[in-house]
Amino acid sequence: MNRRDFLLGSGLVAAGALGGAAAAGLSSALAVTPERLTIQKARFRLRDQLTNGMVSLSADSPPPVIRMAQGEPFAIDIANGLADYTTMHWHGIRVPNAMDGVPYLTQIPMAEGEAYRYAFTPEDAGTYWYHPHCMTMDQMALGLTGILVVEGRDDPGFDSDVPLNLRDFRLGKDDQFKELYTARGAARGGTLGTVITANWHQEDRHERRSGSLVRLRLAATDTARIYKIVVTGTDGRIIAFDGHPLEEALAWPTEDAPLLLSPGQRADIAVRMPDTEGEELIVQALVQGRLRPLARVRATGASLGRDLAELKPLAPNPLARPDLAAAETHEFVFGWSPSDTIANNGFCGTLGYTFWSINREAWPGDAAPEAGPLATLELGKSYVLRLRNESPNAHPIHLHGLTFLPIRSNKRALPKNWTDTALLLKNETMDIALVADNPGDWAFHCHVIEHQKTGLAGFIRVREG
Ligand code: C2O
Ligand code: CU
Ligand code: CU
Repeated sequence: MNRRDFLLGSGLVAAGALGGAAAAGLSSALAVTPERLTIQKARFRLRDQLTNGMVSLSADSPPPVIRMAQGEPFAIDIANGLADYTTMHWHGIRVPNAMDGVPYLTQIPMAEGEAYRYAFTPEDAGTYWYHPHCMTMDQMALGLTGILVVEGRDDPGFDSDVPLNLRDFRLGKDDQFKELYTARGAARGGTLGTVITANWHQEDRHERRSGSLVRLRLAATDTARIYKIVVTGTDGRIIAFDGHPLEEALAWPTEDAPLLLSPGQRADIAVRMPDTEGEELIVQALVQGRLRPLARVRATGASLGRDLAELKPLAPNPLARPDLAAAETHEFVFGWSPSDTIANNGFCGTLGYTFWSINREAWPGDAAPEAGPLATLELGKSYVLRLRNESPNAHPIHLHGLTFLPIRSNKRALPKNWTDTALLLKNETMDIALVADNPGDWAFHCHVIEHQKTGLAGFIRVREG
């Protein structure tokens, strides 16, 4: 019996008790001191007036940057202080399946007042993020997305970092939330927000020592927006994408060729602060052809006079390289699928319609017993997944638990860098390659949450022996 059947078979009514028992059962076995964070309602001044009804991990601030160390055990209790069910997912981190936070696939969702202990040892250094995987449309759109930093064993020599959590929020004129999604948006590119922020500020402000070396950690944690990023006021270089050090260089982003960050993606950018106090480097987004500042980092004090050449290259993460000659190919077609069926997501929410499909079948829902794996892979073997987008919309396709290499596209020269989220452009077919080296059932879905929740979702099974 696999974990999914077990979870579904254990019955939705008993869900709460089980979740609590699982958390309690783990506590004595851990050698590390757990921390605890509670998912709760929050209020924050996103624009002029306080916006009510947000969701965060404290009552009045954005979800914190969670830091952990590569190769060191990490554990955290996530408690649910909301009336709705929830789970927490660690996007991009290769965790054991039971720690992945996917409702009915890897755990029973938490009811109000329950907690779940997430414990894992991050193998890969870099910039990742976390978000709920149950009631995601609401909880993410209302604010529950945060950056995860896994500090590497070797210090590349930065003086500091600046994590930037890029989010937009859908507020009306009164600065309160309006409808978080629309049928029109869900059937197209997703419903965009109205207020673009970094770390919940319209222009996030930081100060760093003049002439120092700073690592910008950008994470696009929005439910729909694809950011076009430009950095002005300094030079530098992109050093990592989706957590992992670059294997192939990415050009310094400019207004003509901005860096695309789609929902779920991250970029680490090494920059040198200007030498003169008061000068700023500005992280900007191109929005409808115009640059809009997201964050400003102001130089302070006398220049440290550092040089980007002093940075040590990032150490590669311990990823298994796929053997393309031996790889079997599996094809996945992403397309339209208007249908009357409404996903059975148990306690985890549905939008009330279906528009999308994988291999021409809309995902029947997280809690639908008939939902089987889209593919079954053998542990330790290499695979090519052919991702075919048959729609005129872009889809950031995300795979849990495994890290992959894009290897070819029918539309463009692809930078072949390790990732967990591949942006498929309109009508693009992309081949990605991986070693199926983490056993379990791994969610596989579009990270435009409206697409995920209206059919463009599923899972891939990695089977032992
Ligand atoms: Cu970032 Cu399945 O999610
Ligand atoms: Cu994920
Ligand atoms: Cu999509």
